[in-house]
Amino acid sequence: MYRHGVDSMIHGRTPDEKRLIQTVHDHGQEHLFRFWDSLSGKEKDALMRQIGTIDFELVAAHRRLLSGAEEADTAVHTLDPAPCIPIPRDEAGRKRERRAREIGEEAIRAGKVAAFLVAGGQGTRLGFDGPKGCFPVGPVSGKTLFQMHAEKILAASRRYGVTIPWAIMTSETNDAATREFFQEHGWFGLDPGSVIFFSQRMIPALDGEGRLILDGRDHIFMNPNGHGGSLLALYESGTIGRFEARGVEILSYFQVDNVLIRIVDPVFIGYHIQAGAGMSSKMVQKSHPGEKVGVFGIRDGKLNVIEYSDLSPEDAEARLPDGSLKYGSGSIAIHLIDTKFVRAEAEDGFRLPYHTAFKKVPYLTDSGDLVDPDTPNAFKFETFVFDALADTSSPVIMEIVREHEFSPVKNAAGEDSPATARRDLSNYYGGWLEAAGVPVPRDAAGNAAVPLEISPLFALDREEFTAKAAGRELTINGSLYLEE
Ligand code: UD1
Repeated sequence: MYRHGVDSMIHGRTPDEKRLIQTVHDHGQEHLFRFWDSLSGKEKDALMRQIGTIDFELVAAHRRLLSGAEEADTAVHTLDPAPCIPIPRDEAGRKRERRAREIGEEAIRAGKVAAFLVAGGQGTRLGFDGPKGCFPVGPVSGKTLFQMHAEKILAASRRYGVTIPWAIMTSETNDAATREFFQEHGWFGLDPGSVIFFSQRMIPALDGEGRLILDGRDHIFMNPNGHGGSLLALYESGTIGRFEARGVEILSYFQVDNVLIRIVDPVFIGYHIQAGAGMSSKMVQKSHPGEKVGVFGIRDGKLNVIEYSDLSPEDAEARLPDGSLKYGSGSIAIHLIDTKFVRAEAEDGFRLPYHTAFKKVPYLTDSGDLVDPDTPNAFKFETFVFDALADTSSPVIMEIVREHEFSPVKNAAGEDSPATARRDLSNYYGGWLEAAGVPVPRDAAGNAAVPLEISPLFALDREEFTAKAAGRELTINGSLYLEE
């Protein structure tokens, strides 16, 4: 155990480490050294290295927040619905959409668009051991999430005659495993030089007393700093610089868990360019007032996503004269982000707010035993990328059809699970087949009664599918899978 205070510890340490040890004491976190005397030289180095990555001023700010020392927000805020581009319902809307598509396609062909996946999360709810992207979800093929995304990017690259680069953000928890997975699978046919991996920063959690938590004698529990950390990580890793050098101006941001994601959607890109936005988002109409998604709203004059837990019951239930929900624009974590905007956010000092969540965090007892608690015991801190919307002028919010673009894999069973994702994929491809005149068996609820899957390398969208399917004999025999 650590018994002798700072003086005995600093013996043999570098001047930087001595300063760090002092900082730890100044911030009242000296319990981090309680196993110091029993650590080997290597273990001491490892602990010092990890401590060196911690922003103690930020930790102090989080402690003030938890202790209530930070002033509570008592200001009166205004909230208004956020305007959006609706799904085209008439010829004028369709004309506008066609124009946007042309503009978007031109930008993709010119190499101005890259795909950007955030995959640094821990995916704890799914209970899958490994990066979530390695989860097999293809209804017939059993393809993993990573492969499904990769094939969409490859198909789009072929369609537009350009190599669409793909940036993938990982975190310390899954970086090595993610890179290995891509290597083992030959980058799924993509050019390895155009797949760029980088990790986000980690941030320490705090226990109820505002103390950092040891989950090993030489290791502090830290979690990825939220998907908002992607803006900083894009910058710090040099990825933004690399993109700028190859002429990329827009990042097509998506989450690893959405099996229906449309990566590099020309219509969305076109609207974003027309508006001159720094960041734009897609949205779906909330299915019911209680649905647990954040909603877009104009808060104090700025576009925000308001967490469902922060929306008052009156606002959640409020309706417009046409009967639709006043705050019904659900946020589904699909964005476009300009490289210029990322640079500005990072160089401006990265000020996205931290959100707090009370979670279960493993910890060491004083005798050195690791405990995995059954109930929440610590505060985790995360930034959310959509908070950056407030910093951009003229952002676009574009409405989409949920069944065509959004079905996330989050839970092991029930809602938003592998089962619902496979169902939604089969329904989606079933719609293509029916449009091409192929009868699809449906159950009483209207879902495709058999697994159906069409590889993005066969067809990237319904129009392409219809053209390719014409004149082909397509029959569904218990299931149907079409590949390249
Ligand atoms: C998120 C959104 C929610 C949206 C939903 C759509 C938040 C707070 N909520 O919910 O509004 O409706 O997605 O599916 O964002 N990630 C990182 N690093 C991190 C944390 C997360 O890369 O530090 C990545 C994950 O790998 C994943 C994505 O961000 O790809 C979403 O993370 P997750 O925690 O699953 O978001 P949700 O809470 O499910």
